[in-house]
Amino acid sequence: MTRDKARSRVIFALDVDNFDSAKRWVSLLKGHVGMFKVGKQLFTAYGPDVVRMIEGFGAEVFLDLKYHDIPNTVASASIEAARLKVKLFNLHALGGYEMMSRTVERLHREFPGKDRPAILAVTILTSSTTETLRDVGIASPVPEIVVKLAVLARKAGIDGVVASPLEVPLIREACGSDFLIVTPGVRPAFASQDDQKRIMTPAEAVKAGSDFLVIGRPISAAPDPQAAAEAIIEEIASAER
Ligand code: C5P
Repeated sequence: MTRDKARSRVIFALDVDNFDSAKRWVSLLKGHVGMFKVGKQLFTAYGPDVVRMIEGFGAEVFLDLKYHDIPNTVASASIEAARLKVKLFNLHALGGYEMMSRTVERLHREFPGKDRPAILAVTILTSSTTETLRDVGIASPVPEIVVKLAVLARKAGIDGVVASPLEVPLIREACGSDFLIVTPGVRPAFASQDDQKRIMTPAEAVKAGSDFLVIGRPISAAPDPQAAAEAIIEEIASAER
């Protein structure tokens, strides 16, 4: 794989609590990563201005707000995400088939060209265990529910899922090759594991079938973040040579 292709697959998690620091990271890493992920903390504090700031640098945004509400509310929020010109946003597959399919329909109707965000579904959060599910009345083991929800999302017209690296092969097998898989919890050989438990290296994740990797601390905590991003890109590029 070329370095540019490998770079386009790296999403930097902008896990910071203030606007200026977000801006410094975008300015430092634009050109070194493919996209920036904005999550609930930054978005709750600064709103769409954060997205506009990133796009002002010519960079792309994954809006990680994990919508989960009644179908009409999620569909309407999704239209706003599209108006912000984000490239990816996500919702919880546990919101159900109608929530997902109504969102897909509205988005495709109001943004009929190719120029609309891709929608990702979160299946089961990686912080959940089989016991967490049992407590809320779901009896099946985590991997079974993950695959079931991924298949349901695909049927509803969702473009892909966010999944732990270890779930990638199962999802790829169940959902086919044109379904996007975005994986956090990736740790290059040179980085610390932090609090991530079920990890793979970037090369392993790509070989297993990930399309995009969400990476935070292995880049942000490195002595030279630009060099760390480039080392990760090299790892990904060489995984498929
Ligand atoms: O710093 P690190 O590389 O662990 O950051 C990973 C990013 O991916 C964080 O923003 C984290 O919230 C997110 N994430 C995750 N595991 C999930 C879903 C999202 O680590 N299952």
